[in-house]
Amino acid sequence: MSTKKNRFSEETNIVHGIDHSPTTQDLVAPIHMTSTFKFDDFDHGAGVFDGSQPGYVYTRIANPTVDCLQEKIALLEGGAAAIATASGMAAIAAVTMTLAGPNDNFIACNSVYGGTFALFNDHLRKFNISPRFVSPGKANVIDRVASLMDSNTRFMFVETPANPTLAIINIELWAYLADQYQIPLVVDNTFASPYLQKPLDLGARIVIHSATKYLGGHGDIIGGIVVGEKAMVQHIKTEYMDHFGPVMSPFNAWLILRGLKTLAIRMDRHSTTALKIALGLENHPKISQVYYPGLESHPDHQVAKKQMKMFSGILGFDLKGGRPSAKTLLNNVKLCTLAVSLGDCDTLIQHPASMTHSTYSEKDLKAAGIDQGLVRLSLGLEHPDDIMDDLENALDAIEG
Ligand SMILES: Cc1ncc(COP(=O)(O)O)c(C=O)c1O
Repeated sequence: MSTKKNRFSEETNIVHGIDHSPTTQDLVAPIHMTSTFKFDDFDHGAGVFDGSQPGYVYTRIANPTVDCLQEKIALLEGGAAAIATASGMAAIAAVTMTLAGPNDNFIACNSVYGGTFALFNDHLRKFNISPRFVSPGKANVIDRVASLMDSNTRFMFVETPANPTLAIINIELWAYLADQYQIPLVVDNTFASPYLQKPLDLGARIVIHSATKYLGGHGDIIGGIVVGEKAMVQHIKTEYMDHFGPVMSPFNAWLILRGLKTLAIRMDRHSTTALKIALGLENHPKISQVYYPGLESHPDHQVAKKQMKMFSGILGFDLKGGRPSAKTLLNNVKLCTLAVSLGDCDTLIQHPASMTHSTYSEKDLKAAGIDQGLVRLSLGLEHPDDIMDDLENALDAIEG
């Protein structure tokens, strides 16, 4: 359940800042580019350190601009507290390495960002923390998840919509299951943004973002966010962030605060454009399937409709001609930019099997349903007709 409510509508909360400078009356939070903070005298310094006096110590521990972003995202996600991190991967590492230790395991969907998959599958194993992967889209998912749980299972981790398959996880159902085992459900909400989906309201205990994407929204920063209950967030901060140190710079926090002001209108536009393009591509002769949760043909369209306000700006499609066709398409787009990342003003196109998900083995790609013909598209804010024309021209370049 969300712990933080106020009387304003979502769009208003998105625009209004959290005022950290009541004395200077800034409309926009200033950038506090300082490594450290001065103490008045010995007792003040000792008091700030032991928490008996308010104040800042050092930017790795806390910074007013970063605090401002953390409070704003906590408000938008309906959480009690948040931590800003140097990247989305830093957020995922901080959460997973705090919640699990040697000899522990966790459940994760097998369709996740390639960097997340590598962290789970290659690096956490070195600490004797074992991922147990499940395919979210196949039948009896809840029974399959339950069969993987034991007394050393520490959390469940999902992305929804999932990268790059656009699979939808029923957050309420998974949260219920996690609750039965008294473990937290962690949701990577990067693809939706808090404007379109609020996992904490659906029972998740922790939300993660790559703030690099829709939160920043302009393709000019790398950042991450963790949101949740106060005690849990504080635990992640003291156990991991303060001493491993992957914190966000105040400048990046400021850029994300700036980007956030337009989150609602950007997400509305990304979503309407993506639906238009998904419908336009759905019956294209060179495409075997379009993956977009807003399409009625998506197997979890009804779940998406229930837990999302709109369906966001990312879609995938399988080309009948496989990898050679994907290569031709990506070499022939002119408006769409061939680049990884997503959630930017610019439309970005990429080939997961050879790019974002090249960390997967051929077998893992197959298990996750990531074909060599799959192309991922992040719809930007250009005119949808121009994007569609560009895609159609590039599709025409594919032989057959
Ligand atoms: C869903 C998702 N989560 C996490 C990440 C990692 O975020 P970052 O690149 O900011 O470290 C990404 C990156 O693409 C992503 O797509």
